[in-house]
Amino acid sequence: MERPIIIEQQDRVVIITLNRPAARNALNSEIMHALAAELVPLDRDPGVGCFVLRGSDKAFAAGADIKEMADKSFSDMFGDDFFAAWDRFASFRTPKIAAVSGYALGGGCELAMMCDIIFAADTAMFGQPEIKLGVMPGMGGSQRLTKLVGKSKAMDMILTGRMMDATEAERCGLVARVVPADKLMDETLAAARTIAGYGKAATMAAREAVDRALEGGLREGLLFERRLFHSLFATADQKEGMTAFIEKRDPKFQGK
Ligand code: HXC
Repeated sequence: MERPIIIEQQDRVVIITLNRPAARNALNSEIMHALAAELVPLDRDPGVGCFVLRGSDKAFAAGADIKEMADKSFSDMFGDDFFAAWDRFASFRTPKIAAVSGYALGGGCELAMMCDIIFAADTAMFGQPEIKLGVMPGMGGSQRLTKLVGKSKAMDMILTGRMMDATEAERCGLVARVVPADKLMDETLAAARTIAGYGKAATMAAREAVDRALEGGLREGLLFERRLFHSLFATADQKEGMTAFIEKRDPKFQGK
């Protein structure tokens, strides 16, 4: 059976590859539980100085798995605290770089933003298209994207559901560097090796300090956002939006 994630270590750098390319790396519970669990010992390992998270050429990740979520009710989402595993990924203390090639949409964009740095291939496309499914960002998009790119651009992305390309993403501060697709891993690994070459206590402390600059109110914002996301599973529009995606047709929203 295919592993949901592939983990390779090169000296002090750990490369994690999301491994559902045929589903555009849609992030199902299996992938997120693997990410949350398998990285725990590596995060604590003093011999590991940097994580690099990547997807496939076509898709870093096309979001949370719509097929897994489509039939869930409010009580399923709220009762299971659906997405709790994602918090564990966000809380790893080892510096993490997202190497984004192709689509980083919805939860895929949110997963990239949980990393400390995003490097983008010139093929990268970012977006928070949840609105098209009758829901909204549920794992940090409304909070982290707004802090990174400002209110106006975040509202544009979240309310229209449009994508932005790598150039726009660099211009507005979502990504640190844009590089040609065939150089993405070379450039990302060079930066990862540099980071991993420093003292781990210092890099962990530095990233925590930078995060403090952004995190005022983030905890409350994230919880607020997640509860709203869960509650949208009580609407008919969520069922219609997700079913329409699976059936490959346009949704007919009724505002209820
Ligand atoms: C489940 C998905 C998926 C997803 C793609 N697939 N994205 N399955 N969940 N998020 C599946 C398709 O159903 C299809 O399955 C296969 O992957 C290939 O997808 P295509 O659409 O044929 O590929 P392509 O034409 O290249 O288009 C790629 C795409 C498109 C632009 C990324 O797939 C797309 O728009 N996906 C949905 C993006 C999205 O809405 N993301 C937000 C999800 S909600 P079959 O079986 O037909 O081969 C979300 C909420 C976050 O993330 C909340 C907190 C985590």
